[in-house]
Amino acid sequence: MSDGTTATHDNLTAQLLHKNNAPVFSLNGKLYELGSKEGYRQFWAIYHRPPKAEYRNYLLERRDSLIPLDERRFKGAYYTPLNVVDKAYDKLAETLGKNWQKNYIVWDMCCGVGNLEVKHNYPHNIYMSTLEQKDVDVMKATKTCVGAQRFQYDYLNDDIDDFGQIDYSLTNKIPEGLRKAIKEGKKILVLMNPPYAEAANSQGNEGKTDVAKTNIGSLMNNADYGYAARELFLQFIARIGIEIPTATIAMFSTLKYVNAPNFEKFREVWKAKYLGGFVVHSKAFDGLKGNFPIGFLVWQTNQKSKTSITEISVDVLDKNAIPIGEKAFYNLPNNAFLSEWMVRLKKNKEDVIPLINAVTPTTKTEHVRNTKWSNNAIAHFFCNGNDLQNSGTMTAIFSSVHSIGHAGGYFITPENLWQAVIVFSVKRIIKPTWLNDRDQFLQPTEPLTEEFKNDCLVWMLFNGSNLTASANDLEWNGKKWSIVNHFIPYTEKEVNASDSFKSDFMVKYLKGKKLSDEAKLVLEKGKELWKAYFAHTDERKVRDELKLNRADVGWYQIRKALQERNKNSDFPPVSFKAFEETYKALTEKLQPQVYELGFLKN
Ligand SMILES: C[S@@+](CC[C@H](N)C(=O)[O-])C[C@H]1O[C@@H](n2cnc3c(N)ncnc32)[C@H](O)[C@@H]1O
Repeated sequence: MSDGTTATHDNLTAQLLHKNNAPVFSLNGKLYELGSKEGYRQFWAIYHRPPKAEYRNYLLERRDSLIPLDERRFKGAYYTPLNVVDKAYDKLAETLGKNWQKNYIVWDMCCGVGNLEVKHNYPHNIYMSTLEQKDVDVMKATKTCVGAQRFQYDYLNDDIDDFGQIDYSLTNKIPEGLRKAIKEGKKILVLMNPPYAEAANSQGNEGKTDVAKTNIGSLMNNADYGYAARELFLQFIARIGIEIPTATIAMFSTLKYVNAPNFEKFREVWKAKYLGGFVVHSKAFDGLKGNFPIGFLVWQTNQKSKTSITEISVDVLDKNAIPIGEKAFYNLPNNAFLSEWMVRLKKNKEDVIPLINAVTPTTKTEHVRNTKWSNNAIAHFFCNGNDLQNSGTMTAIFSSVHSIGHAGGYFITPENLWQAVIVFSVKRIIKPTWLNDRDQFLQPTEPLTEEFKNDCLVWMLFNGSNLTASANDLEWNGKKWSIVNHFIPYTEKEVNASDSFKSDFMVKYLKGKKLSDEAKLVLEKGKELWKAYFAHTDERKVRDELKLNRADVGWYQIRKALQERNKNSDFPPVSFKAFEETYKALTEKLQPQVYELGFLKN
């Protein structure tokens, strides 16, 4: 098998080549015309005939591979594996009744080579259309769904007149039976796995330019569907809403339309009642990049009704399409999101150095978003996005501004610090997985105890994304800059510091707070590491790299310096073990509270 450019197997006994524009077999150095009897005989002299059932089934399942990979990617043509199709049929029987195959007329308007329909027992009830004539030809050659009506049709462009009306006479491709069923309001099930391609946006995301420029895309732009107009699969849904307003829809797709903030407008327009469904790991599909849930959701649409999506509960299937549990996804108003909880403070006129890491300035000097400070600020909180997807990489606290912390950034002052540490902690403490990574963080629904607040504070101080630091002589834009760390929880004396600390803010802030045993232990073991740092002086290279030119360094600098010493036999080793155990205990105490207090829904 080949993707059209590269062979997947080398050194085979036989090879399929082209000579004078005709396919030929190369066998043992000799060429045979493909159509010739001799070539055919030689072929079966090597291979067993007929192919074993398991190989035959696999080859049939993967007949989509006849289309070159690049082309498939662009058109979002990822086939649905047959073990997943099995689960979809089980779900349809569960939601629509065991006689659904008899009772519904099925239309798959992006059927590719027909994987979704091969298991259907009543092909006369099926209409299958798709963009590529090649795919229709493959289905015919492989005798896929022989009794069904199979035809080429561009669902996002064909039969849409200049006024946005559907007019079948424009192409005359839609079979009479299907037109009649639509007109008579028969029970129609749209069963489909539409392309997932998304158009590029102005922020240069990696979507595909032009891919969403279709007639339906223009209609959606006019009808105020917002961001959804960029998504091919929602373009399918939008046309179905006009053409078959009471269709039952069973669709494979990502879950954006159910819970992503960008799709709020779509959810206001599209009316559908959820009947049931599952999510399956994206890795169950060949060729899809990333780890995320693909939904198979069944909807009863009715564009005249008022029902809109609120909450859906789904079965969860793993990479092998094996059930592993259940999960709910929610459509929540954007004003319930955690990103709306903290007030964003205004910038003042003070110039500050824009950073990309604890002590690393940005290399850019033009079009840098953040170069100003805010009154009374003691740190800057880089906090982008509101879901788990980016929380691991886009949540950090700095002693100067983060260069790209645009709308997602907050200035931290003594007054809002309690809130910042909570947002920081809940966003960093839950690990993103393929299943939860699009879950949205919410404002708490339960009262927050002092213990929870203090635990979050200590957890934040010793987290790897607390990038607060002190340093002199940071160079940016032709000038030298200093940054000051306000987040040291100890006095100079407590940690045997070599010099005085510029800020004692955190020591004062912690004073009088009643800390839990878990938090106290973290502070105690953390102090040992701080002391270990001051017990020796680091090598020049490390000092330069971590800008260790002041005593009031931060947790990031201390941790990294000690790690470097541990690689160098000139220094006595420093164990992090005792600290890590206490930090783990505090982490495990806080994690369930993220759900209990309403920051995430289970
Ligand atoms: C994700 S694949 C699914 C294929 C098949 N249904 C399956 O499940 O294996 C999406 C299919 O939609 C087709 N497609 C893309 N744009 C289309 C359009 N405008 N009209 C109809 N089909 C389209 C692609 O060619 C591709 O075969």
